[in-house]
Amino acid sequence: MAVFSGKRIAAPALLLVFIISACGASSNYNVLSFFFDGVPDPNAKNLKSEKVVFDSTGIKKREEILRKATPKFILHGPFGAKMCGDCHNVDQGFALLKKEPDLCFKCHSNFETKVKYPHGPVAAGLCTACHKPHKSVNKFLLVRKEKDLCFFCHSVLGIKQNKKHPEIVKDMNCVSCHNPHGNDKKFFLRR
Ligand code: HEC
Ligand code: HEC
Ligand code: HEC
Ligand code: HEC
Ligand code: HEC
Repeated sequence: MAVFSGKRIAAPALLLVFIISACGASSNYNVLSFFFDGVPDPNAKNLKSEKVVFDSTGIKKREEILRKATPKFILHGPFGAKMCGDCHNVDQGFALLKKEPDLCFKCHSNFETKVKYPHGPVAAGLCTACHKPHKSVNKFLLVRKEKDLCFFCHSVLGIKQNKKHPEIVKDMNCVSCHNPHGNDKKFFLRR
């Protein structure tokens, strides 16, 4: 939060600063965005940054680009369509209609039972170990990006020790070789 950046200030003074600054559109945004996701930033248009680009003759230029302050969420189909009732009992306390994975299989094909080697968390029906049910900043609604998704459960060291993994240093993603849901090949290899 911008309000708290800079020098350390004693707590009562900080509180005062916080209260004083908590008026006007932009500081109101600071306050709101502290508590809520997706509050539009009134200053977003003013935040500019630069990008180095090359024109057709190869000459280096600087181009001003607009930088969005708020993260861009990708919404899950039914969540974006505000079809909360597809998954929640909207009349009674908003409980989930079904447990996962059946909740998800209502709309997504039951790929998990069809393969010889399902991936551990998929076999356990834990779709939300990897996917957000509402929205995410990552594509495919993933909870974490790329290798971080896998390294949350698999040890970096163990993976690096495997002789089949020299490519990992070369910026390759795990899912280019492994199907994250499992498949009929051992280790869910794609090829
Ligand atoms: C595709 C199914 C799905 C849809 C559609 C959906 N939700 Fe959810 N929602 C879930 C799941 C699954 C959880 C449990 C999340 C968890 O445990 O990590 C959840 C949890 C919640 C919670 C509990 C707090 C939280 O975020 O964990 C609230 C509140 C909520 N949903 C509101 C909504 C609203 C409002 C809508 C419609 C705009 C909606 N949901 C649409 C699946 C859905
Ligand atoms: C009511 C139907 C419905 C339910 C229930 C549902 N989904 Fe979806 N899901 C959709 C639709 C519609 C899309 C968007 C399809 C598209 O854009 O091609 C989607 C897309 C996705 C995507 C791909 C997003 C992307 O960026 O391509 C993932 C991942 C996903 N859902 C996971 C889940 C998980 C996990 C659950 C259970 C918690 C679930 N879904 C439950 C309807 C549903
Ligand atoms: C170990 C992590 C992980 C788990 C657990 C997981 N997924 Fe995924 N899922 C992914 C990744 C990664 C992708 C991105 C697609 C790719 O790279 O192949 C994906 C893609 C998807 C997609 C969109 C693309 C497609 O293949 O149709 C859907 C829908 C989906 N998952 C549903 C589910 C459901 C339903 C479950 C629970 C049964 C589940 N996933 C469990 C990691 C996971
Ligand atoms: C939520 C935890 C979790 C996440 C996230 C996760 N895994 Fe797994 N993975 C497991 C579990 C549990 C097993 C089964 C235990 C075992 O066989 O070692 C497993 C097994 C595997 C196996 C087979 C290992 C074997 O010896 O048969 C591979 C390959 C694998 N995961 C790759 C991945 C990749 C690639 C990703 C990222 C897309 C990923 N995992 C993300 C939990 C996870
Ligand atoms: C270039 C392709 C490739 C990439 C990229 C790749 N793997 Fe693998 N992985 C393999 C192959 C091939 C095996 C089978 C190894 C064997 O036969 O012993 C394997 C085996 C595994 C295993 C089971 C054996 C073990 O070492 O525990 C896990 C878990 C695993 N990979 C996770 C990952 C994760 C996590 C990533 C991303 C950080 C990743 N892999 C990236 C090709 C790849």
